This record gives sequence, structure tokens and C-alpha cells, in this order.
Amino acid sequence: MANLRGYPLGAVMLVVLFGGLTACGGSSGSDTPPGGTNGNGNGNGNSNGNGDPEPTLATIQQTIFSPICATCHTGAGAPEGLRLDSEQASYDHLVEQPAQGVPALMRVDPGNPDDSYLVRKLEGGPDIVGDRMPQGGASLSSAQIALIRDWIANGAAREGTGDGATGVVLAGVEDSASGVELTWRFSRSLAEHAQDPHTWQVYLRTDGATRPLTSDEYSYWLDERALILNLPTQADATLEVLFNDPASGLWLDHRGRVIDGDGDGQDGGRYRYVYPH
Ligand code: HEC
Repeated sequence: MANLRGYPLGAVMLVVLFGGLTACGGSSGSDTPPGGTNGNGNGNGNSNGNGDPEPTLATIQQTIFSPICATCHTGAGAPEGLRLDSEQASYDHLVEQPAQGVPALMRVDPGNPDDSYLVRKLEGGPDIVGDRMPQGGASLSSAQIALIRDWIANGAAREGTGDGATGVVLAGVEDSASGVELTWRFSRSLAEHAQDPHTWQVYLRTDGATRPLTSDEYSYWLDERALILNLPTQADATLEVLFNDPASGLWLDHRGRVIDGDGDGQDGGRYRYVYPH
């Protein structure tokens, strides 16, 4: 599994890495070794090194349920009758199945990760009955939880990637040497032509004046499943990031569908984020 925190963003000014396409400009300075910065993934055998895994039940089964959960959630005596020891068992016991702990909630409510009891048990929400899962073990990493959230948001399909819109989530806001590092993750791989930096804009807004940042004022990292911008911050200024804007270019996923920028669950819509939020 690719670890977003591990992207060699550091001193690299402009890097585009996507399949065979490589476009570099203004590259300078020393490289940070991949994986060299504050990694937070706990990597549970899901390292394919090819970017983030697709949010499918198959991936989740292979990288999370089987190695981590099935030690307890197995066979006829599984806790709360919840078997997670095969893809079919997981599907049958999770999707649209009422939770034992909070029967008003489904364990997995397709399209609705926030109200899926599985997600609450993994995130350790205040309203759960019993323990955060995995019981007695370290929490899943945010990337692992995002994978499960994405699968549910996309409709919790038994196979494939589901038919839902491709979503984007702000996965991280962190101070960096030059200002702030913002990380977005996409629930499916993007098409290659989303990789053109002119399809997003960053505006710096100070009292009464707004100007676009030029590409040599910041660095970015983009691959098929994530965008990281390393932006300069300035007292009394806000930054506005826009993408998937009809005026400058839509972002398509690998199925050729416009990503869901405005988060309404439908394809399309402009994405806008203002920092500080
Ligand atoms: C060490 C044993 C153990 C491990 C490992 C474990 N669980 Fe559990 N799980 C339990 C027990 C016991 C319960 C019932 C008590 C409770 O809810 O705390 C439970 C309950 C649950 C429930 C609530 C079911 C319901 O309907 O109320 C969910 C969801 C769940 N586990 C998911 C997971 C997932 C996903 C993992 C892996 C990331 C996992 N568990 C790992 C022991 C475990």
C-alpha cells in the first residue's frame, strides 16, 4: 500500500508520476527517499507498491479482514455472529445487516459510511457498544479506514468498484517547511489527463486582493489516487484551491466519468477548499 505521508515531496519542486507519463519542471534540490518521512501506515501485508489499492471488497478482505479481523471473527462462534473470514462471509454478514450493538444501524449501509456501524467501530466513535476494533489491537491506519469508507461510499459492491460517483476527500492538512501540506485522496484512479497541473488553481487572497499562485511558488505531487499540494502560507492571507472546475478542466476517473467535486454523490461539480478552513 502506498503511504501518502511517505511521498517524496520534500524539496522536489514539480513531479508528475503517472504510468508512463512523466513531466517534470523546475526540479531542484535533494530528494527525500520514498517512505522516508513520518510514515503513519501500519502496513498489514498490503504492499503492492502501485499506488493506493482500489476500494473493493476483495482488497479489503485480503489486506484487512483476513489478516487482522478473522483471527477472532471466524467460524460459527464469531463474535456477534459476524464472520469476516472470507469475502462472501464478510459481504453476507456486513452489508445491510443490522448491528448487534446498535440495532438501529446497519453494519454497512451502502453509500453511507458515517452511519455504518462497521466504520464507527473502527474509528471508535463515542456511541459504540463494546470496544473499538480490532479489539485489543492498534487502530487501523487512516488509509485503511479510508479504503473501507470509500468502498461503502461507492455502494459497498460485492465485486469491482461499484457504480457510485468517484469522490474526493481532504485526507490531511499538515504544517510543512514551506507552509502547509494538503493531501486529497480520490476513491478511484483518475484518468491520465487529470494529471495536467493547469486543471487546478490556487489563489492567494489578502485583504482586498486575490491573485493566482504561479506554479513555481509551490510544489505538488499527483498520482492516480492522490493530490498533494505544498503551499506557502502567509499571515492574513487565505488560500483557495479549486479543481474540477468547468472553466479550467474537468477531472475524469479511469472509467471516463467526471469526479464528484462538490460531494453530492453525483458525478461532477466543482471542488473548492479554503485554507485556513
Ligand atoms: C481480539 C478479537 C477481535 C479482533 C481481532 C476483532 N474483533 Fe471485532 N469484535 C470482537 C468482539 C469480542 C466483539 C463483540 C464485543 C464488542 O463489540 O466490543 C466484536 C464486535 C465487532 C463488531 C460489532 C458487531 C455488531 O454487530 O455489533 C464489528 C463491526 C467488528 N467487531 C468488526 C471488526 C473488524 C472490522 C475487525 C478487524 C479490523 C475486528 N472486529 C477485529 C473481537 C474482535
